Amino acid sequence: MNRLDWNCAPARGPLCAELAVPGDKSVSHRAVMLASLAEGASRIRGFLEGGDTRATARIFARMGVGIEATAPGERIVHGVGLRGLCEPGGPLDCGNSGTAMRLLCGVLAGQAFDSMLGGDASLSKRPMRRVTEPLASMGATIDTAEGGTPPLHIHGGHKLHGIAYASPIASAQVKSALLLAGLYAEGETIVVEPRPTRDYTERMLVAFGWPVSFEPGRGALTGGHVLRACEVEVPADFSSAAFFIVAATLVPGSELVLRAVGLNPRRTGLLQVLRAMGADIREENPRAAGGEPVADLVVRHAPLHGIEVPVEHVADMIDEFPILFVAAACAEGATTIREAQELRVKESDRIAVMAAGLRTLGARIEEAPDGAVIEGGPLQGGAVDARGDHRCAMAFAIAGAVARSGITIRDCANVATSFPGFVELAQGSGLAVGGPR
Ligand code: S3P
Repeated sequence: MNRLDWNCAPARGPLCAELAVPGDKSVSHRAVMLASLAEGASRIRGFLEGGDTRATARIFARMGVGIEATAPGERIVHGVGLRGLCEPGGPLDCGNSGTAMRLLCGVLAGQAFDSMLGGDASLSKRPMRRVTEPLASMGATIDTAEGGTPPLHIHGGHKLHGIAYASPIASAQVKSALLLAGLYAEGETIVVEPRPTRDYTERMLVAFGWPVSFEPGRGALTGGHVLRACEVEVPADFSSAAFFIVAATLVPGSELVLRAVGLNPRRTGLLQVLRAMGADIREENPRAAGGEPVADLVVRHAPLHGIEVPVEHVADMIDEFPILFVAAACAEGATTIREAQELRVKESDRIAVMAAGLRTLGARIEEAPDGAVIEGGPLQGGAVDARGDHRCAMAFAIAGAVARSGITIRDCANVATSFPGFVELAQGSGLAVGGPR
């Protein structure tokens, strides 16, 4: 694997720019999946050209779906209908993407053919029983490796039936896997969550013409309908914007404008938390794009103070903890994070990776099994390891802008899974981040 390292120097002055971050990863995955299973040709605009979402597109192409890349960020998907996928004839590679693997597990459980799903070293360590077990109670047969990890062997030809599932984990991936299997099931599939998670699968199914009843924390549908092609407009990814929101907040004198950022309330927990810490973030031109709320965000430098992160925000900012660790390490006083144990099974153990890196830079962090207490203070230079985790790499790059001297970040190549062009955009905003000197 290409173990790309970055060098970052402290920002030489305020960050002032207007930026457009790439399309939302969660929405892009679902757009390709539903468009592939729909009848007719769907156009997707704002598609994320990242490693993860391209892996999903490649997998559907392997199963006979015609997918045209008509322009960067644009796809025309010639849907084959719910029963039109063909046997891939070999393992399907989900790369680094947990979303691809878990959602596909639901889709493939309903097919007439067998399939195998695999992934890279990080994905191969991630827990899959959270989807394979409830899918088994719907009638699916799926083998995992010992320990419940990939590769997954999904046996086709099993009749599925709906279940009512009270998920022990607040996970949009679990909910989505079951709802997608529910498309193929007899009767009703109901998923109830311990806390509400992102509802893109439910919203997009409705846009493709499938009736879904949903509210925060619950989704339900019945089998036996048809998906019909539609136009999908993907908003800019809030999780990618988050790195620049924190960068502008931390670097004195900064003002960044982030264009057309997706502000689905199930994604924007970080906005609430940063504002409670003292951040100056304004939403301008609120509007709807592709059925999702979007706005331009204007972020100005502001001093931060530590808080106790309300546990009800955890699921709504689950991908933003690496950058919150950086904001907290630069805030006055202590920030406490609890009930965030899911961070331990993301692309890396994000609590351990962020705590280790920020400690190297001089931060005081006490780890807990489900979170951490982070004492703010000045950051020094040093060498940190992102451990191949895209979001940890980008979070450390923002720490590099406010550290007193340069930092080196090891193992950053996976940033392209979710945020191709991050380095160029960061440089354009005034950050000194880049490859080997
Ligand atoms: C995602 C759900 C979240 C998130 C991931 C994308 C999705 O995972 O961390 O980056 O698109 O459904 P969990 O559902 O496992 O929390």
